[in-house]
Amino acid sequence: MSKLVVEGGHRLKGAIRINGAKNSALKLMVGAMLGQGTFTISDVPAITDVRTMCGVLEALGVQTCLVDNELRLQVGVLQGRVPEELAKSMRASIQVMGPLLARLGWVEVALPGGCAIGTRPLDLHLDNLIKLGARIEVTGQRIAASAECLYGTDITLRYPSVGATENLMMAAVLAKGETVIRNAAQEPEIIDIQQFLNAMGAKVQGAGSPVIRIEGVSDLGSADYKVIPDRIEAGTYLLAAAATGGQVTLENVVPEHLEALLTVLEAMGVEVYRNEDGLTVWTTNKLRSQHVETAPYPGFPTDLQPQFVVLATQAAGVSIIHESVYDRRFGYTSELKKMGAQIKVDGRQAAVVGHTPLKAAQVEAGDLRAGAALVIAALAARGETTVLGVEHIDRGYECIEMRLRQLGAKISRMEERREDALPVSVLRWGGR
Ligand code: EPZ
Repeated sequence: MSKLVVEGGHRLKGAIRINGAKNSALKLMVGAMLGQGTFTISDVPAITDVRTMCGVLEALGVQTCLVDNELRLQVGVLQGRVPEELAKSMRASIQVMGPLLARLGWVEVALPGGCAIGTRPLDLHLDNLIKLGARIEVTGQRIAASAECLYGTDITLRYPSVGATENLMMAAVLAKGETVIRNAAQEPEIIDIQQFLNAMGAKVQGAGSPVIRIEGVSDLGSADYKVIPDRIEAGTYLLAAAATGGQVTLENVVPEHLEALLTVLEAMGVEVYRNEDGLTVWTTNKLRSQHVETAPYPGFPTDLQPQFVVLATQAAGVSIIHESVYDRRFGYTSELKKMGAQIKVDGRQAAVVGHTPLKAAQVEAGDLRAGAALVIAALAARGETTVLGVEHIDRGYECIEMRLRQLGAKISRMEERREDALPVSVLRWGGR
């Protein structure tokens, strides 16, 4: 287990390059199983979830090798049973269902484990895979699905679920006939997987709009591909810059993917400069409170909600944040209150009183984005804060302490050594 120790009160300054998007890379990885041969996917973040997904793919018959953010995949003879401990450790493992049903005709995967941010059913995935022709049985914690053949059909999602849209796209690319997905998710990651599948020979169109059409083909090849920049990692660092009163430039971002956040930041009094593939933010005057409601893309991203709440503590006035995507995504505010934050949570709504100076404390992350928010709070607080639960942060942020140090933060990682731990050098070369 490791912890982050942060000496707060320093403005972030400088420039960093943003990595490829976690929430795209994980899906491109499973999408490769629809094809054959060797894939090279670049700009893949070296994060725990990617390593876990490499473990899932290896168990299914894909050789993986991640070196310096370049992932090589060699699709071999596939099998459809996902090891339970891997499936439970990461909800995204459910995304293997579409590709394996399409390619193999069967898949067995454990129901994802509990989630700190809310109830996360799978009805939109399972009900619509059945519409495509799959037979699905849920026994205890395991899902078994099979299909001699998948047939294109017309699907309307009751909610624009990102994962369900991706799973159904991947199931449909090898189905007989055309599939239409209405009320589809419109996130940039959906466009990314459409481009990747089409590079393999699929016929998908409409991603980024509410209606996606997929014309089934008989087989797919391989592709080399670069993952789009991670808009959530970018937004996290922009919010950290604003919360510390700093000036930060991000390279390798798509400003359009962040417009909902940029609009809010500008309304609060943050200066934003957009260029081709970069963004610079700086704060010159006092920040003003803002009201925000999270929503599916292009709305304000739920994955930046915790990080935004921290900024709201530094803005004069009361900010109201409504979390419309998840039913339990304010759990981390109890940790912020240990640092002096004045936040009142009522169901899916939080009222944040600012400007409230934050003070150092020992706090613990319960999930990925909550962890990022606590790091931002530590950067803005006076004194030395310890953030526990860093393993959650490492799931989605590559070397967060090194990247923040590049921006002038005083932050270090302390490994709490276990008795049986191998020397780090051995783990570095042999461990996953
Ligand atoms: C993806 O999760 C992301 N994860 C999440 O990011 C992100 O918060 C979410 O999309 C929304 O943008 C990955 O891409 C790996 P959904 P996903 O299906 O696909 C309900 C992060 O921090 N729902 O769009 O699981 C669900 O309960 C993570 O990087 C159903 O009701 O999100 C939720 O309330 C956290 N039935 C809402 O839809 C279903 O079958 C949005 O879920 C599926 C979802």
